[in-house]
Formats: sequence, C-alpha cells, structure tokens
Amino acid sequence: MIKTEHSEGIARIEIARPEKKNAITAAMYQSMAEAIVAAHDDARVRAILIHGQPEVFTAGNDLEDFLKNPPQGMDAPVFQFMAALGNAEKPVVAAVHGAAVGIGTTMLAHCDLVYAADNAMFSMPFVSLGLCAEFGSSLLIPLAAGYHKAAEKLLLSEPISAEEAFEMKLVNRLLPPDEVLAYAQRQAARFNSLPPASVRETKRLMKSGWKAVVEKLIVDEVKSFGRMLREPEAKEAFTAFFERRKPDFSKFG
Ligand code: COA
Repeated sequence: MIKTEHSEGIARIEIARPEKKNAITAAMYQSMAEAIVAAHDDARVRAILIHGQPEVFTAGNDLEDFLKNPPQGMDAPVFQFMAALGNAEKPVVAAVHGAAVGIGTTMLAHCDLVYAADNAMFSMPFVSLGLCAEFGSSLLIPLAAGYHKAAEKLLLSEPISAEEAFEMKLVNRLLPPDEVLAYAQRQAARFNSLPPASVRETKRLMKSGWKAVVEKLIVDEVKSFGRMLREPEAKEAFTAFFERRKPDFSKFG
C-alpha cells in the first residue's frame, strides 16, 4: 500500500492503493513516517519524492478508518507522518496526478517542490465533512494564497482546479500528466549535485519564520479535529459518503 525505494539519491514514497483511490489508513501513515525518518538517517539520500498513481494522488484519510479508528492526539500515525514531513531536513518533492483530497492537499503545503498534472484536482473538504482545517493549513494556505481565496477553499470546501492551485501558489508547475513524475524525479535528482548541508540549512532558515507558530497551531488543530471527528456532524458526513447520498446538516444548530 505504501511502496518505498531508494535509488540514485532519491527516497521514493509511493501511495499505492488505487482500488480505494489511495485513501490513507493508519498503517499507511505509519509506513510513510518511517520512510521519511529512514531517508533522514541515510546519508546517501539527498531528496524525498512523494507520489501516487497515474490516476490519483490520494483521496485523503480513509473515511472508514476515521470512523472506526479515529486518531488519538499527537501519537496517532497521521500525526507521526505529518511531524516527520514537517520536520524533514532534506528537501521533499511531490508529484501529483488526479485527486489530492484533504491531507493530500495539506501535505503539499509542507513539501518544498510540488509538480502537478494539469488535470489534478485539489480539495480541503474539512468543513463539508464536519471537521476543521488541519496540520498548519489554517495558516499555510492563507499565507500562500491570501486570506479570502483560502476562505473560499476552506470555509466553503470548494474544490481547487490545477490552474487555481498554481495561482494559489500551492504548486510550482503544471505539466502534462505523463510528464509529471519524470519531471519531479529530475528536479529531486538535482539535489545530488548540490552541497547537502547548504540545502538543509537554507530549508531550515526559510521555514524558521513561521515554524514555531505552525507547531503551536497544529496542536490547536489536532485538538479540534480529534474532538470534531467524534461529533454527530462528522458522523453524518461520513455515513452519507458511504451511502452515496448528500449529507443533511439541517438538524444541527
Ligand atoms: N476513504 C475510504 N474509501 C474511499 C475514500 C476515502 N477517503 N475515497 C474513495 N474511497 C473508496 C470508495 O468508497 C470506493 O470504494 P468501493 O469501490 O469499495 O465502493 C472506491 O474508493 C472508489 O471511490 P469512488 O468515490 O467510487 O471514486 P470516484 O473516482 O468516483 O471519486 C474521489 C474519487 C476521490 C473524488 C471520491 O472517492 C471522494 O470524494 N472520496 C472521499 C474524499 C474525502 O472526503 N476524503 C477525506 C478528506 S479528510
């Protein structure tokens, strides 16, 4: 479900559960967290590359897992993954095809270089799922795109087309779908010929302006998200998804 490989200085992490649109389970988050830590510890690795399948990046957190096995605070595998990604000292490159839902978009805000297919679709449907923004996206998305654009996408849960994602500065470059992975791989390979300590230090300095603020915010987001996951609004939204109907939030005050 998560395939990992190291070759020519690049640690590749592939989300590979196409039958469920690459929805991510707790076990998959755990594997991705471990892969990022292993890449950190392996001196041969100069960059990390995260990608999905040619049809889909990820449909976000597995909704069944959310219902049966809601993440419990900071020790949850999803948090381990996001902490490993957020603290990754080496550059992280993402290649996105198809849908990047929920954490699929959130994680991109923590990557360094993001390349997407021109048919990619992004979304942060947390509000429409009875939840709230997660893992620093409450700040990082307004910071990239401006408050009002971010409000459309987070408060109204509007989907984000590839062009809009580029305009919102969530993506470095759009490419034809069959070129994205190879291009991202070439960009990641460029770190092989750069001095690694300089790359790491520059990345650290670039993020240092907001790191402490984002870390504090994440604690707040995790607390709210965890509470909201157990509340009736989220239950209604998730049940509606599996029953293939529109959720009914009219009874909630
Ligand atoms: N969790 C669990 N299962 C999921 C899933 C998720 N997040 N997303 C898709 N699946 C499953 C579907 O239940 C379906 O399973 P089935 O074949 O056993 O019925 C299968 O993956 C295919 O999904 P489907 O919705 O039929 O594919 P699609 O191409 O029509 O739509 C998406 C793709 C990504 C737009 C759509 O699946 C979707 O909106 N998923 C939910 C996204 C979401 O809300 N994520 C949580 C964010 S916090």
